[in-house]
Amino acid sequence: MHSGLPPGTAWQALAKHYQQMRTVQMRDLFDADPQRGSRYVIEADPVCLDYSKNLITDKTLACLVRLAEDSNLANAVDALFSGATVNTSENRPALHTALRAGSRDNVAASLGNIMSQVQTELKCLQSLDDSLQQGQLRGFDDQPLDTVVNIGIGGSDLGPRLVTEALRAAGRPVPEIHFVSNIDPVASLETLSALDPRRTLFVISSKSFSTQETLHNARTARSWLQLSGCPVDRLARHFLAATANRSAALEFGITEDHVLNFWDWVGGRYSVWSTAGTSAALAIGLTDYQRMLAGAYSMDRHFLRSPYDRNIPVILALLGVWYNNLFDACAHAILPYDQRLRLLPDYLCQLQMESNGKSVTCSGEPVEWQTAPVVFGAAGTNAQHSFMQALHQGTRMIPVDFLVAETDDYDPEDGHASLYANCLAQAQGLMAGGRLDDPGNSTHNHAVYAGNKPSNMLVYRRLSPEALGAILAIYEHATFVQAHLWQINPFDQWGVELGKSMAADIMRDLTATEPLQNPGYDSSTAALIQRYRDRKASKQ
Ligand code: F6P
Repeated sequence: MHSGLPPGTAWQALAKHYQQMRTVQMRDLFDADPQRGSRYVIEADPVCLDYSKNLITDKTLACLVRLAEDSNLANAVDALFSGATVNTSENRPALHTALRAGSRDNVAASLGNIMSQVQTELKCLQSLDDSLQQGQLRGFDDQPLDTVVNIGIGGSDLGPRLVTEALRAAGRPVPEIHFVSNIDPVASLETLSALDPRRTLFVISSKSFSTQETLHNARTARSWLQLSGCPVDRLARHFLAATANRSAALEFGITEDHVLNFWDWVGGRYSVWSTAGTSAALAIGLTDYQRMLAGAYSMDRHFLRSPYDRNIPVILALLGVWYNNLFDACAHAILPYDQRLRLLPDYLCQLQMESNGKSVTCSGEPVEWQTAPVVFGAAGTNAQHSFMQALHQGTRMIPVDFLVAETDDYDPEDGHASLYANCLAQAQGLMAGGRLDDPGNSTHNHAVYAGNKPSNMLVYRRLSPEALGAILAIYEHATFVQAHLWQINPFDQWGVELGKSMAADIMRDLTATEPLQNPGYDSSTAALIQRYRDRKASKQ
């Protein structure tokens, strides 16, 4: 039973069609159509989507495509790519697609020549990479810098971290790379204690250069260098910044030539293509970084040019809406059967939940339908030994996206085949269900798999930089399409502000000695603050 739906005849038609589909079994759809496994497939080199294991028929697809058409999706996409003010609550465009267009498109003339600005930053990145590789960047006692620590959080951490894990090649030993995001001192201390301060370069990645966690960790890095003997006038050798707030970076002590520009028209969770990707670019090399941009660009073209029923991001978005809004599926699992994509679920969690976890429309009216489901996941086969039980036999429908490479250069032998086999087995099992043989009791209910659980299968030949770029662009566009259908703004994140300002109040009261200042605390929060203060006092 679904909750409210957005207004419009296309939504009503979809709701009516849902009544016919809610008891349909996918097994029967496969039996009735031997071509189903090849009909519901979209190729967009280097990736291919098989979406045949979904609770859909041609009629479902027609209803979903009509939803996209009636919502004027084409105009919204045009507005996104042309630099219109699509982030209405913050009055700016969201031009992440311009970051990967290279010199191929001259988008958004109204914004000035942003394409050449993008190219300038890429050239800076290239020259920094060259200097690092040639040992020309030197630390406080003139040792070559060969270790990079990215300090950033959210989009300024998850993107570069994912790309580094996914594409780091064995043949590129320099730089050694680390990521620090959490404000928990354990995060920075654990990382720094294993490093040589004389050889460490910190990349402070922060669009705003005001994020509490990032500034705290940057200050920790600075103190660590000083405690290790770095003179104040040589600290700047150890820092780069990627930020839209150049003056704050300069004030921190980073030199002009070490500040890379990040623009306010790039959203944090859409920023891995910008200088927020600096650490990743240094880790994988500029050639592969640019290949990743090219892969994303080719997916942008596919998204712009393909009809909706042959369009991977649009189909994934529509299927997500189908389950979220009609079947009331409250979660969506991302299961990469690819160890190098193990951070993809975390990355997509921010992309989709920070973008679409909204409860007012673009015009500020409350929404009366569900928006972002919970996104979670883990690398296969690890997921099989933790939460897959609930996907197979739990009471909730949790749609899945599987991702898997068809080949792996690291293991041309059998290991990869068994990974691939497990991935296909999970998708088939979720769809078809079945009964496990139990010699004691062959009708044992505990061993029954109901099946009829939907999934998508995204396959790619190997995890090349192009494939990774395409995969990330697919999910960005799918997120955008869903936001459009739910009538919400995917480019703001006001929901994270409340906790930030409350944390500042609480922080002040934790360290104060006079009675609690904030009269607005609930009794639980006030008691926990007092408890912390008492503990601290009894330790001193
Ligand atoms: O979580 C809020 C947020 O603004 C994210 O959107 C962003 O990726 C993250 O904080 C980091 O922000 P910044 O790059 O400005 O430090």
